[in-house]
Amino acid sequence: MYGEQALAGWAGVTDAVRASGGRIVAQLWHVGMARTPGSGPVPGAPAVGPSGIAVDGSASGLAMTSADIDAVIAAYAEGAANARAAGFHGIEVHAAHGYLIDQFLWSHTNRRTDGYGGGIAARTRFAAEIVAACRAAVPADFPILLRISQWKMGAFDARIAQDPKELDALLTPLAAAGVDAFHCSTRRFHPPEFDGSDLNFAGWAKKLTGRPTISVGSVGLDNEFLQAFQGQRGGVTDIGGLLDRMERDEFDLIAVGRALLGDPAWLSKVLDGRVDELRPFQRESLASLA
Ligand SMILES: Cc1cc2nc3c(=O)[nH]c(=O)nc-3n(C[C@H](O)[C@H](O)[C@H](O)COP(=O)(O)O)c2cc1C
Repeated sequence: MYGEQALAGWAGVTDAVRASGGRIVAQLWHVGMARTPGSGPVPGAPAVGPSGIAVDGSASGLAMTSADIDAVIAAYAEGAANARAAGFHGIEVHAAHGYLIDQFLWSHTNRRTDGYGGGIAARTRFAAEIVAACRAAVPADFPILLRISQWKMGAFDARIAQDPKELDALLTPLAAAGVDAFHCSTRRFHPPEFDGSDLNFAGWAKKLTGRPTISVGSVGLDNEFLQAFQGQRGGVTDIGGLLDRMERDEFDLIAVGRALLGDPAWLSKVLDGRVDELRPFQRESLASLA
């Protein structure tokens, strides 16, 4: 989210979205140790992360210095201000899926001993400082979302919070730093996050922080889901408890990803009960914008 030409391009995109009555939020990323060697604007640069350790455990990059950390925090703030100037309705800080911020959150990739590593509070500090810097760079009513996940690309069983107490320790400083809503990434929205409760990840995040939350994961991907849509509630049934969960305010929004890549008209077809016309998601959908 920088550079005159790119920002002018984004302004065209946000204008078009606004003209169609939509809303658009820019997701700000740094991939850290997940960078493909040789890629990006400086191909020869090494991958960097909290400790130079990749999600697979290999020591394949450099540990960030405190000057690197300050520079990345400043770049996020600049990105937030640029996104607002380019017409976005908000930003989402990508702190999930094993990319840079998540590499700080996870003890497996963060072995620092300098105040940005150690216990949960220290591992959360980098994310909280990024959120605070973004918050200071945009007006108070400009939404800041934060995407967070237990799972990582290449480590689906990873966990950064073992129980609700640890999740609280992780999320509370982020809410205090200025997160308006948490986007809780799970591969399936319905499994309980912790033993002893039906709440999913987004449900726990809302309960612990009081912030609105977005849930996600496999909506519209299986046949059972599509067939069941033809049932009750004016064409929509309660798949996997989704509607029940939303009606009892477990979380506030549900995100839909691959089903929309398979069929951009997915939502209007579902709302109109035209389930027979839905085009299912297939791998080839990833190579198409149609
Ligand atoms: C092609 C593709 C690209 C994605 N890119 C991103 C991304 O840039 N940032 C992100 O947070 N998640 C990304 N995701 C994950 C999705 O946001 C979403 O969490 C995931 O697909 C699960 O939702 P679904 O089951 O509705 O598809 C991507 C997923 C796919 C399939």
